[in-house]
Amino acid sequence: MEIFKGSFTQQEPLSQEAIDAATRVLNTGRLHRYNLKEGDAGEVASLELEFAKIIGSKFCLAVASGGYALATALRAVGVKPNQTVLTNAFTLAPVPGAIASINAIPLLVEVTEDLTIDFADLEAKAAQSEVLLLSHMRGHICDMEKLLEITNRHGITVIEDCAHTMGAGWNKKPTGSYGIIGCFSTQTYKHINSGEGGFLTTNDPIVMAKSIALSGSYMMFDKHLSAPSKIDFDSIKYETPNISGRMDHLRAAILRPQLKELANNIIRWNERYMTIETILKDVKGLHLINRPTKENFVGSSFQFLLSNCSYFEIQSIVESCRNRGVELKWFGQNEPKGFTSKYDSWRYIPTQQMAKSDKIINSILDMRLPLTFSIEDCKLVAAIICQEIEAITA
Ligand SMILES: Cc1ncc(COP(=O)(O)O)c(C=O)c1O
Repeated sequence: MEIFKGSFTQQEPLSQEAIDAATRVLNTGRLHRYNLKEGDAGEVASLELEFAKIIGSKFCLAVASGGYALATALRAVGVKPNQTVLTNAFTLAPVPGAIASINAIPLLVEVTEDLTIDFADLEAKAAQSEVLLLSHMRGHICDMEKLLEITNRHGITVIEDCAHTMGAGWNKKPTGSYGIIGCFSTQTYKHINSGEGGFLTTNDPIVMAKSIALSGSYMMFDKHLSAPSKIDFDSIKYETPNISGRMDHLRAAILRPQLKELANNIIRWNERYMTIETILKDVKGLHLINRPTKENFVGSSFQFLLSNCSYFEIQSIVESCRNRGVELKWFGQNEPKGFTSKYDSWRYIPTQQMAKSDKIINSILDMRLPLTFSIEDCKLVAAIICQEIEAITA
């Protein structure tokens, strides 16, 4: 029996260009984003301009993490304590966590077998909230035109959690550019890697002025290049608290060269994704996730459903794959483990029954596809999954 020897958590090394850029910053000793020499734009402000261009947004703010971007976005659109915020039932803990961090209350919306938000349930709950924090969980993007038709009709403000969709889009328009705010992560397991980090993008000058002030700008708004005019800051600067969560020049320096590689890396991720999908599509009982033609996805992870398997069958498949070196994360197991918590483990939010999502989440298997995997690696990983599923279900 073949065993896979690769690591699901191994990233590619940073390029020499990124290492050189980091060394240049270290040699200056000026790591804080506002510590700039006369006439120097600085790595962080330059990165913000470059990222805004990729998203096609007017403004961009680089911050300390994706989770920080989410909480800042909620604050910037005016969410108050005890206010209800809609969000998908299938997402990761930082999303309800961001809502809870400002003492607001997540109201979960069911998900479909496409792993995207259920429009019927969204319609049913729309009257209970004015804000939707939409998570493009694991890179699955709902019909964004249809979503905006619903949210506009109900007067709901949309914030997009694009932690898994940097570089992705719907109908050729980038994710993060549909809602009022897009939030991104540059944490190690995402599409560009600075260890920790994130972005917040928007076209709204007041939302960006507030976000910059919230992030801890110490009234140094003029050092931002991807920012609205002074008048916009003047209107908010005395009412907006400073809740520090800035990005520093070191991280920005290593991210800028990675942005240049993003488009090419998306092609590489999708080659790996398609290799696995082609092999898994013929496995009986394995449900692949539909990828609509309008969805311009980034296949940096792979999910499938084992809808007809029992708890113990899935447990056994996960275990036998693990014994052969293939790490499948299972959202349906009773105890949350390594990144996979399910909504009923978030006991700081009101208890909610999500019958439709339960059936789906309980059978989701999920794996990372790092770019350190070759196409041959992907073929072996897929073959092992096929064999182990067939061994249990045949
Ligand atoms: C769906 C989702 N949203 C938001 C985040 C938050 O990103 P960060 O870890 O940079 O705070 C993550 C991180 O894993 C995530 O998976």
